[in-house]
Amino acid sequence: MNQAKIKRIIAGSAGILAALLAVLLFAAGISAVICNRHIKATQYDVQLDGLEQSVRLAVVADLHGKVYGENNAPLYEKVAAQKPDVIVLLGDLFPPHFTEADKDYVIDLTRRMQEIAPVYFAMGNHETSYTAKYGDDWIEMIRETGAIVLDEEWQDVAIAGNAIRLGGTMGHGYLFGRSNAQFHASPEYEVLFRLEHARQPAILLSHMPDTVALSDGPRRWHIPLVLCGHTHGGIVRVPGIGGLYAPMQGWFPRFDYGEYQLNSEMRMIITSGLSGHDHVPRIFNLPEIAVIDLKP
Ligand SMILES: [Fe+2]
Repeated sequence: MNQAKIKRIIAGSAGILAALLAVLLFAAGISAVICNRHIKATQYDVQLDGLEQSVRLAVVADLHGKVYGENNAPLYEKVAAQKPDVIVLLGDLFPPHFTEADKDYVIDLTRRMQEIAPVYFAMGNHETSYTAKYGDDWIEMIRETGAIVLDEEWQDVAIAGNAIRLGGTMGHGYLFGRSNAQFHASPEYEVLFRLEHARQPAILLSHMPDTVALSDGPRRWHIPLVLCGHTHGGIVRVPGIGGLYAPMQGWFPRFDYGEYQLNSEMRMIITSGLSGHDHVPRIFNLPEIAVIDLKP
């Protein structure tokens, strides 16, 4: 092959690569615009031993203070359209760089969700950061809306004719640098222990999947259903590969989105939630409400 022919082939290949890159960037740009405005509902079926009747949960997570349309109307319409028996607010409703006034957004959101269905409210890392900075008065205001707050707590509740044990934690379900004694004395250990030993179906609301999925969490715990957010589905979903990045897990996280069987008895569902992360937009990753149908 002469040199002129080799140069032509190289130039042709570079042109094809540049064209492919341009198409990909264009598609990513369009996707970022769509993912900034539209919400999907993702439905899951979960069989739970001991359940008497079917129950539908709508899970709303990781809003980061975002407002859809006029005063979040599209979000409430989407949640109401699912006809949930209960709504789970699963953390990181506050924006990452909050001011004290942002509690009004979270309280208003909880109140309006309560108009659709009873609300169970679990903390995310943004909620715990807000409490550390401005105190916990806002949690009492959330309770005054009628919502049940599970802040390192568990409760036996009745949902659509079923006795269910619900717990909420932001802690780590493994040693995480602590001694056994320190871990066993922690509030997260108490929540996890009580859920594992429930006679009725138990559901753990754990904003961070890290709580039970990382380290030896799946060997330690056997809780039938764990609901998580926090990962934003990896923020950018690379076609054919999955999420690009998640906090705690880094690049190409293993636990980024969807359903996981952590051990023979423990199922985990991670919702990708409803916003991007800081100034990074969601790409190929439509915001979502997770709709979970619990079946006997
Ligand atoms: Fe989070």
